[in-house]
Amino acid sequence: MTGAILVAGSANLDFVVRAPHIPAPGETVLGGAFRTFPGGKGANQAVAAARAGGAATRMLVALGDDAYATELEASLRDAGVTLALVRSDEPTGTAFICVSDAGENAITVAPGANGALRPAHLPELAGTSHLLLQLETPLASVAAYARAARDAGVRVVLNAAPAQALPAELLADLDVLIVNEGELALVTGIDGDIARALDALAIPCVIVTLGARGACARDGDTRLVQPGFAVEPVDTTGAGDTFCGVLAAALARGAALDGALREACAASALACTRPGAQTGVPPRGEVEALLAATPASDAQSTAALAAYCGFTSGTSATGQR
Ligand code: RIB
Repeated sequence: MTGAILVAGSANLDFVVRAPHIPAPGETVLGGAFRTFPGGKGANQAVAAARAGGAATRMLVALGDDAYATELEASLRDAGVTLALVRSDEPTGTAFICVSDAGENAITVAPGANGALRPAHLPELAGTSHLLLQLETPLASVAAYARAARDAGVRVVLNAAPAQALPAELLADLDVLIVNEGELALVTGIDGDIARALDALAIPCVIVTLGARGACARDGDTRLVQPGFAVEPVDTTGAGDTFCGVLAAALARGAALDGALREACAASALACTRPGAQTGVPPRGEVEALLAATPASDAQSTAALAAYCGFTSGTSATGQR
């Protein structure tokens, strides 16, 4: 093991119903069976990092004193995540999710105990190489954790989800920012031009997840693309979290960014093939098998993705630096 990850973030019990399509405002849709799954962006990312292996994973999390908390704690511990647990008087966080037959989702979060995380709750950072953050906990605490980690020489990775505008002080403390296209537009104010938005950010490394298309990144002056792995989606809930956790684990064990992107894209594709957020995170063996069975991306698909991203001359595709 070369690094160790601390995830500071949310945990929710996900209440999930499948339906033919996600209801529009004012519409009622007759759905199917109802199930609960362990979720929450922070906890999903912690589980993904732990299952990816190679880096010890801890999580700072706030839970209520209720049965939902018991289920969420068990899922984290079963995955090998050690906990820095804040017990709150508020109920454990919950999320209400509709998953369509196409595997897409719409999510509403009731944060509950997640709102209890304060700057003072950050545990000792000695031995930690990477801090992984999201935006389902109070923004002031996220910013304080990033600053403390930066001061301690810990690399700070932020997944800016759910989307919101971010203070400049927080952006200045980041080593890696992971966003989807909507989040990139909100953070930069630039919509529909990935290349220009990437260049507008002063963060050393910015990664954009592109759903089934794959991912792209700007690492210093280098631009990379990683085409997605083709799968039949069953449930995309937690696929982005799987990407973030697996990417952080790969970086913590010393992988180069191109290899980390490929591993994260493979894991997030596999996560779409089974229901639930944490239940969907694949074990490392499955990811390795998919990577071994899939040839490196061909020039045509990397060129098409580079064009989609607005990367022109000078673009590096993964494996083609
Ligand atoms: O990213 C998926 C997650 O978002 C779900 O598990 C839900 O809990 C919300 O946090």
